[in-house]
Amino acid sequence: PHKKIENLKASVRNIPDFPIPGIQFKDVTTLFQSPQNLKDLTEVLTDLYKEKGITKVVGIESRGFIMGPILALNMNAGFIPIRKPGKLPADTIEESYEKEYGIDTIQIHKDSLNPEDVVLIHDDLLATGGTMLAAYKLIKRMGVKKIYVNFIIELETLEGRKLFPEDVEVEAIIKYDI
Ligand code: PRP
Ligand code: MG
Repeated sequence: PHKKIENLKASVRNIPDFPIPGIQFKDVTTLFQSPQNLKDLTEVLTDLYKEKGITKVVGIESRGFIMGPILALNMNAGFIPIRKPGKLPADTIEESYEKEYGIDTIQIHKDSLNPEDVVLIHDDLLATGGTMLAAYKLIKRMGVKKIYVNFIIELETLEGRKLFPEDVEVEAIIKYDI
């Protein structure tokens, strides 16, 4: 699996100075382009969680909607979207969090999870952790007792994983320490 992860990491494209000067943007779309990489990533992620009894995979709009449903299928779980404000049609609950500029909000359908669910929250990238922490809080508020947190990529220097309680398993496949 180490070789696989090396290959996956090599397939992520770096875009300097996007979206603003000084940022090294990790573009995961180049990983998804290759059928072999897509297969390998799916396998690595599925192996991590298949014995955990996951009943729902929650994906965070937008980039958590790419692998989220694939993982849900492989784990025989349902898929639940967390979306940006005003997109979900039924009753929602929401959390707001600080971004670089101003406040962001995410929402989930109130009736989408129950306390007995075992939830895997998936997103493509862990940067500051603000987005995932808000998602984690939403799901906690719904009474869910077992929550796993997963990313494809982690930017370790931003220390986003420190936001989560120690008993939460936070996993990322590809890590950058620059
Ligand atoms: C990006 C990324 C994560 C989040 C990570 O999404 O896909 O969701 O930021 O940042 P954080 O750890 O500092 O919260 P973005 O909000 O750019 O939107 P997108 O997924 O719709 O492209
Ligand atoms: Mg995102």
